[in-house]
Amino acid sequence: MLDVNKIRNDFPILSQKAYNKPLVYLDNGATTQKPQFVLDKINKFYSSQNSNIHRGAHYLSEQATAEYEKARLTIKQFVNANHLHEIIFTKGTTDSINLVAFSYGEKFVNEGDEILVSEMEHHSNIVPWQLLCERKNATLKVIPINDAGELIMSEFEKLINKNTKLVAVTHVSNTLGTINPIKEIIRVAHKNNVPVLIDGAQGIQHTKVNVQELDCDFYAFSGHKIYAETGIGILYGKEKYLNSMPPYQGGGNMVDIVSFEKTTYNELPHKFEAGTTNFGGAISLSAALQYISNIGIDKISEYELDLLNYATEKLSEIEGLVIYGTANNKSSAISFLLDGIHHYDVGVMLDKTGVAVRTGTHCNQPLMKRLGITGTVRASFSFYNTKEEVDILCNSINRVKQIFS
Ligand code: ALA
Repeated sequence: MLDVNKIRNDFPILSQKAYNKPLVYLDNGATTQKPQFVLDKINKFYSSQNSNIHRGAHYLSEQATAEYEKARLTIKQFVNANHLHEIIFTKGTTDSINLVAFSYGEKFVNEGDEILVSEMEHHSNIVPWQLLCERKNATLKVIPINDAGELIMSEFEKLINKNTKLVAVTHVSNTLGTINPIKEIIRVAHKNNVPVLIDGAQGIQHTKVNVQELDCDFYAFSGHKIYAETGIGILYGKEKYLNSMPPYQGGGNMVDIVSFEKTTYNELPHKFEAGTTNFGGAISLSAALQYISNIGIDKISEYELDLLNYATEKLSEIEGLVIYGTANNKSSAISFLLDGIHHYDVGVMLDKTGVAVRTGTHCNQPLMKRLGITGTVRASFSFYNTKEEVDILCNSINRVKQIFS
């Protein structure tokens, strides 16, 4: 079993107090805290190895470049990609999805084509596709969800057709916590010769991801949601697609020969890494994945599921509390509302008791419309959270209810 007290000691920020009360950080869906192992690695890099990558021929530059490329290898191994050059460093999930929407879209999407997303997508997995559809006169189609917050797979099978050029779905819903049956989605899509992009922003930190076993064509995720720095993310893409896609951005490093008449481009992965990338962030991401691997992602999943079940049970006991998202297969987020109390007021009051949650639409406006609400309170968990913290959350909710009654 995972020793949560030992784990908590690895995260210095967690021992802080908020308003003189123990900090209960339940906003991990928005961003995660950083372990000392990652902080030390960042410190070491900037104290002794910092230099621009792939540019200098000097001592520091060689060290920084080696660390950066070593980071790519760690990430390749973490997701079990087939090739190193299938790992592209980006700014984050949003950047990764925009890269595919632009570049895959330029090459493969034409007038009359269709892109398929789901009703539970984050804005970052909707808007880039809308922009593409506007550019190309294509159509965005939407897979509906049932009242429990699960994709209706029979509708998906009806929607996919010969005009579908790509399916883009989230691995785990940031609001509902639903874990989507991505392996099945990919199987059905491939039967129709359609590639699939998985938005892994809320998936990779909670569950094992093996891109070869999934057979996904693209998988996107962010560093800051998996215990690394902000401003770094990953796009995994199959070589066959990445090779045939045009560059997304122009600049240094992505080129081979530049002239005013014609420019030729660098090979993968550099073709998609224009300019100076966030190499410090890449090194922090590598450290975070090493930290996770040392604990074991399976152990993390098991612990987090137990915590989620405990939290679901305890929250369900609170009268007047309604949980949104009751899928059979869920990960570490619970969205809820308290009868007659606005979600924002609940969030502000919980904050005063030291409990950090997120309130609002969670960048899911179409999902809110489907649910017929204006927002929720969301508690999102990590493996450093405890059952005692869930109890504090529940006690604080009861106090909010008392104050508002
Ligand atoms: N997408 C992040 C969240 O769900 C910011 O909170």
